[in-house]
Amino acid sequence: MTSPVLETIRKRRSIRNFDHQDIPKETIQDMLTAAFFSPSSSNRRPWHFVLVSDKGLIEKLSKARDGSSGFASGAPLVIVVCADSEIAGRWIEDSSIASTMIQLTATELGLGSCWIHIRDTVHSEEQSGEDYVREVLGIPSTIRVLNLIALGFPAQDKPPHEDDEFMPDRVHWEGF
Ligand SMILES: Cc1cc2nc3c(=O)[nH]c(=O)nc-3n(C[C@H](O)[C@H](O)[C@H](O)COP(=O)(O)O)c2cc1C
Repeated sequence: MTSPVLETIRKRRSIRNFDHQDIPKETIQDMLTAAFFSPSSSNRRPWHFVLVSDKGLIEKLSKARDGSSGFASGAPLVIVVCADSEIAGRWIEDSSIASTMIQLTATELGLGSCWIHIRDTVHSEEQSGEDYVREVLGIPSTIRVLNLIALGFPAQDKPPHEDDEFMPDRVHWEGF
């Protein structure tokens, strides 16, 4: 028997084309609840999530990075995953896990999603991707921005992951 969570993990693909249909409020609530149930180092729970549905703001966010973020302009919702690094040194790990929880819950509820990386990226010669997103959304300088998650009902089909993606030569028992 395959575990239901493995089936959801198998189905999750990066979706970059979205329907215009709005995302139900309960679905948004479930994704956030899943994020707040994430494990975090020393249980510091440093997360902040900025939800963006305003088209003008989404358009601005889609310009955060050359090439890698443009498709976000077609998403009805973007969740900006942030963390207070002053209370958690492991904010990157904590935020990555929360992002994954959001993406898996989105998949389970019929949404498509894609991670758009922001930390340690370049917006322009003068500005990092992170500072750009902070400026667009008024995020304080003490709050770090890991990524954007573009979300919406999928307007593209992608096949689920296949068993042949399993890499047996990368699995090491009792030593490398
Ligand atoms: C840390 C990280 C950064 C990523 N950054 C981007 C990005 O900036 N833009 C993008 O379109 N996809 C991005 N992705 C999505 C990957 O391209 C995608 O997960 C990978 O190609 C595997 O495809 P799948 O998600 O359909 O399994 C990122 C994924 C991760 C985990």
